[in-house]
Amino acid sequence: MSRAHPLAGHWHPVAWAAELGNGPSQVVLLGERVVVWRDANGGVVAAVDRCPHRGTALSLGKVDERGCLVCPYHGWRFDAAGSCVAIPQLAAEAPVPARARLTTLCCEESAGLVWVCLSDPVAERPEFPEFGDPTYRHVRCSTYRWVTSPERMVENFTDFGHLGYLHDGLLGSIDDLVVPPHRVAQVGGELHYVLSMQVPNTNDRFAVTDVKGRRGVQTNRYVLTLPYAVHLQCTYEDTGAHRTLFFVAQPHGDGTCTGFCYQSRDFDLDGDDEPYARFQEVLAEQDRTVVESQVPGEVPLGPSEELHLPFDRVAVAYRRAMAALLERVPVAAGTRIQTTI
Ligand code: FES
Ligand SMILES: [Fe+2]
Repeated sequence: MSRAHPLAGHWHPVAWAAELGNGPSQVVLLGERVVVWRDANGGVVAAVDRCPHRGTALSLGKVDERGCLVCPYHGWRFDAAGSCVAIPQLAAEAPVPARARLTTLCCEESAGLVWVCLSDPVAERPEFPEFGDPTYRHVRCSTYRWVTSPERMVENFTDFGHLGYLHDGLLGSIDDLVVPPHRVAQVGGELHYVLSMQVPNTNDRFAVTDVKGRRGVQTNRYVLTLPYAVHLQCTYEDTGAHRTLFFVAQPHGDGTCTGFCYQSRDFDLDGDDEPYARFQEVLAEQDRTVVESQVPGEVPLGPSEELHLPFDRVAVAYRRAMAALLERVPVAAGTRIQTTI
């Protein structure tokens, strides 16, 4: 039962808000089919996508002029609170039974995304502080539908070892692969980690770096909000300029996930956005190919599974935190994660 899933109480993105049409849309979250639509005031509404009458997918229906969701099978109408307000097969004076109501879900619009929580929220939505900051310019990237688990997708953001190898010439260099020292701390439902590294100047192909010479030093400050959101603030140490990435994954619950991503910057404010989106597209495609190949698709959460080296410490911390969140593997305080040197 997906509303009893250990992650049901977390907020998950399900769609770009701008892509919600005039009618209802079906999204799948943690194995639950959810219908999302806009009410008469333009607010977003979500419910389990199942008509209480005969189990029909309400997302095949329509939204009427009063913002009610209309079932495609017999035309019952449901308001934004989930109450059935009309059963056309009943005589006008007949009462609508109380059981004729939708299972509504927590739903909010924020940072250009529609977010859904399948049960009572147990955590805040991940923060994207730059989104409302007028000193930043934001670029919405592609929507990344990957055939892998969201844990594999997000763990890729904890993996420093691949930056200079897989992304040689873009996020690092193959002649400089030693991972600089860094630490990771869990603060409530977040992992915080910082790393300073040399990055190549990519401006001849993708005008996205604020680096003047051949290479520059960039400090990456990460906040990974469990389970599936990453806020990465990159500071170019030469100029103090910032480029941020906000990435959050939707867990479909069927071995696939969808990543939603923004690239934001507080420099080059009048510049072309296209190189920023294309840069992210190239990186994501490099990542997708290897991440989708990983076996098993689910991240093994036991500490002795797969092979961890010291520079994998953030991934190990992510696995420990996810194991605790999913209660798949009890993690006692002070448990040592074995690493092989
Ligand atoms: S199945 Fe929805 S109104 Fe009958
Ligand atoms: Fe990558």
